[in-house]
This record gives sequence, C-alpha cells and structure tokens, in this order.
Amino acid sequence: MNRLNDLETWKEVVEQAMHECMQQTDMPSRLRESMTYSLEAGGKRIRPALLYAVLETYGVPLDRGREAAVALEMVHTYSLIHDDLPAMDDDDVRRGRPTNHRRFDEATAILAGDALLTDAFRVLTEAPLPAERIVELVRAFSTAAGSQGMVGGQLDDMLAENQPGVTQHALQSIHERKTGALLVYALEAGAILAEAPLADRDLLKRFGHHLGIAFQIQDDILDVEGDEALIGKRVGSDEENEKTTYPKLLGLDGAKSALEEEVGAATAALSRLSVKAPRLEELLSFVVKRNH
Ligand code: IPE
Ligand code: IPE
Ligand code: MG
Ligand code: MG
Ligand code: MG
Repeated sequence: MNRLNDLETWKEVVEQAMHECMQQTDMPSRLRESMTYSLEAGGKRIRPALLYAVLETYGVPLDRGREAAVALEMVHTYSLIHDDLPAMDDDDVRRGRPTNHRRFDEATAILAGDALLTDAFRVLTEAPLPAERIVELVRAFSTAAGSQGMVGGQLDDMLAENQPGVTQHALQSIHERKTGALLVYALEAGAILAEAPLADRDLLKRFGHHLGIAFQIQDDILDVEGDEALIGKRVGSDEENEKTTYPKLLGLDGAKSALEEEVGAATAALSRLSVKAPRLEELLSFVVKRNH
C-alpha cells in the first residue's frame, strides 16, 4: 500500500468508528446535528493516522486504538469549532463548509464543542483495555488538551495578537502547545497501546514535538499562500487577526527553513527508534508537503 492509500484507509477506519460512537449516544437532535456536522465534515484525520501508524510500527492491530483514535478526533474537532468562534478567530469556513456557529448559532456551537470534549473522555474509557492503561491514556490526553497544552497555547496565541515584540522562542512555545501537544499525545497514545519500550516512547514524543511545530508552521504558511478550495478555510485569516505567525516573524522563506529544521530533528528522533518506522516517515513528509 502506498502512503496515500494508508491515509485513506485509516481515515475510513476512524470515520466509521466515529459514526458508530455517535449513534450509540442519546442526546437532543440539534446537538447531535451540530456535533455530527463538524465531526463528519472530513478533515485529514492526521491525529488518528499518527496513532495507527505507531500501532502498525509495532505490529499491533488497529482495533486496539479504536476508542483512543475516535476520542482524539472528537477533541480536535471541538478545538476547531471553538477556534472559529467570533470571540476567537472569527472564521466563516472550515473543512470546506460554513463554520459550526455560522451553520447553527454561537450557543449551539459552544455546546457542541463542550459535548465533543466531554464525550471524548467517555469514549476513551469505554476502550476494552486494562483500567490502568485507560488511566494512563486519560492522564496524557487531558494534559495535552488542557491548560498545560492546547487550551493554554490557544490563550497565549490570542495574547500574542498584534504584539510586535513576540520572540521566536515564545512563538514556538505557542505552537508546541496549541497544536503540538495533541499531536504528541497521538504518538504517545500509540506507544502506550503498543506497549513500546520506554526509550522508544520518549523518541516518539520527541518526534511528535518536532512534527507538531512543523505542522503549525505549515498551517501558517498555508494561511498565506494556500488555496482556499484545497485547505477548506479562508486564506489570510491570520493577517486579518494580526496573529503572530512564523511567516510574519521570519518571512515566508524563513518560515520554510524553520520548518525544514523541525523536519530534520523529527527524522533524527525516528532514526533512533528500536524499529524501522516507514509509516511515520511518510506521515512526516505528508505534513510538510501537504497543500491542505
Ligand atoms: C487545523 O488542524 C488546526 C491546527 C491545529 C493547525 P488540521 O489541519 O489537522 O485540520 P483538519 O482536521 O484536517 O481539518
Ligand atoms: C488553531 O490554530 C489550533 C487549534 C487548537 C484549533 P489556527 O487558528 O491557526 O488553526 P486554523 O488555521 O484556524 O485551522
Ligand atoms: Mg486560532
Ligand atoms: Mg483559526
Ligand atoms: Mg491557521
């Protein structure tokens, strides 16, 4: 199977599992519509793909990551719904469709995000795994998504708007948390589920750390020179919101070199694993070359 086929297959696997998890849950129909609207709008499903790639690297069946993968995509989707709200990035298009608050209303979008975040943890605890493994996953997941991770990064991202003095170091810290933390967790979850050796676990997290920064640098670059039809969101949103981004701080060429540096560091971490990891190499190159 080539790289894109793997991504496509993993996407289908997680989308089917998400669909089943949503169907099993009883809730008001408007809430279901709003959650499903964003959850089933497509998206690259890169976080589940990273988790599945780790499982495949260690020869573990994908099924073992089913609930963790669904939960990841639910939390990621909640973060997008809230990120697009008028009080945050105020965006009108996401995954090629009107943003959730545009299609429904702000209150519904906030609640759909709340429900996706909260339900994700229930889904994760329903995994047929030993209790101590679930606790380990929940701890890592909540740390990545919460105040120390994504939410903290989102707050600092807002505080850095229209701030000329933001250093590259500070910007890197924002990228690490707002985007990197969940990507690191995807790899860590794969390592926990695969019972990878501890040294590999650390290397996978290091790989994720660099891949995460690279992922957000590419997101910033696409916000400048991407094609709206391909990325499914509006180009130029960062400039309008006076965001501090890599292209703004370093110029487009500088941002591209910073991205290359992160890719080099990510590749170095992978090369030290106790096993070969071609799937992860492929995902890294997808992240860098992606146009959507
Ligand atoms: C967009 O994430 C938001 C960031 C964290 C940069 P993705 O680029 O993974 O979005 P989808 O899931 O493919 O829509
Ligand atoms: C958002 O970063 C990261 C999240 C936690 C959602 P961006 O604001 O750059 O993401 P996009 O460009 O709207 O997808
Ligand atoms: Mg944002
Ligand atoms: Mg945004
Ligand atoms: Mg962006």
